[in-house]
Amino acid sequence: MSESYIQNLFAERIGGKAYGKSTQIYKFEKIKRAKRAALAAHPNTEIIDLGVGEPDEMALPLSVRALCEEAQKPENRGYSDNGCLEFKRAAANWMYKVCGVPGIDPETEVIHSIGSKAALAILPAALINPGDVAIMTVPGYPVFGTHAKWLGGEVFNLKLTEENHFLPDLASIPKDVLKRAKALVLNYPNNPTGASATKEFFAKAVEFARQNNLVIISDAAYAALVFEGKPLSIFSVPGAKDVAVELHSMSKMYNMTGWRMGFVVGNPLLVKAYGDVKDNTDSGQFLAIQKACAASLDHPEITHKIAAKYSRRMDLLVGLLNKFGLKATKPKGSFFLYVRAPKAVVTAEGQRTEFKSGEDMSQWLITEKLISTVPWDDAGPYLRFSVTFIAKGEADERRVIGEIEKRFAGLKFEF
Ligand SMILES: Cc1ncc(COP(=O)(O)O)c(C=O)c1O
Repeated sequence: MSESYIQNLFAERIGGKAYGKSTQIYKFEKIKRAKRAALAAHPNTEIIDLGVGEPDEMALPLSVRALCEEAQKPENRGYSDNGCLEFKRAAANWMYKVCGVPGIDPETEVIHSIGSKAALAILPAALINPGDVAIMTVPGYPVFGTHAKWLGGEVFNLKLTEENHFLPDLASIPKDVLKRAKALVLNYPNNPTGASATKEFFAKAVEFARQNNLVIISDAAYAALVFEGKPLSIFSVPGAKDVAVELHSMSKMYNMTGWRMGFVVGNPLLVKAYGDVKDNTDSGQFLAIQKACAASLDHPEITHKIAAKYSRRMDLLVGLLNKFGLKATKPKGSFFLYVRAPKAVVTAEGQRTEFKSGEDMSQWLITEKLISTVPWDDAGPYLRFSVTFIAKGEADERRVIGEIEKRFAGLKFEF
């Protein structure tokens, strides 16, 4: 077939006339290919998938039952636009009950999202003009920055390093960048580092935002998955509502990734602007899903159960990796364990393989050991292990960890 004129119509933001012609393979595609190749080479061996970023189980029965009931009601059939009050009220209550944040006005300070990803894609249109800067942290979830760039904005990356407990050094942002910056995007507990923020850090960030006329987008997709204590909302800092919105998500805390539901909460003017752009982007999530999510938010014990599972698995995985000399520290929340890649590995047979990056080690693990992970090389060579691996119950979890131990037998990692 001759080349279609359509090839010449693509916008520069996705590659323009060269769209689809790049031979560059992106990280997640590389991982998928390596998994396929490993499976083809060892069709009878189980791939242990520590790479996925979503729960291994479905939503709990209470949520599913509520959805079944709500889906049968004719009044839930239509467009929901910017959402129903039942969900907004449940979200405001949840902010108080679970995060200890009182006084969220459900009418003006909460609007649902079709998942945090959708909110991160919508919010830049409310804030970013050409030439404006979005301050993002790396490694991280890039969606806000991608859209900021598509709107003619720029991204300034702040590195998250072990020395700084994976909290960004705000003082390192150059003055000329700050002058043009509009938004600071934070994500705690963090994907991929698993790090949590502290109230002191959030207080510093709020003050920094106020002094530099910045909006804080606090992506709290993992906020409720904590292993001890209460989830930390940026709104636990007095005055944070003057500068911030927080993005919460049903995906991880209620095993609802496919349901596509979350909420944007905080500064009423920002929430309103989000709602105005959202209104021109989507027509709202199915009301039956919103109402089932409202019912679920009234049961935070569901999240406690899910978090306890990840905590238990994390203990097993951290113990195992440390046994082999990898330096793993249990995070305070999320389901991600971020581990520095060693310089080399020596097998029991004496074969030595050098790793120049996290990606090298990740490729070696999938090819040689059929263990899938996600490499991150933006701020040093690291691997992300996720404890969302498939296992039914505690005995099966121990079996999976035991299987990794067998595959690691005799390995020596060099740093
Ligand atoms: C940091 C972060 N933010 C947002 C999201 C998107 O979550 P949701 O399912 O709510 O769209 C993810 C999903 O992996 C994430 O890791």
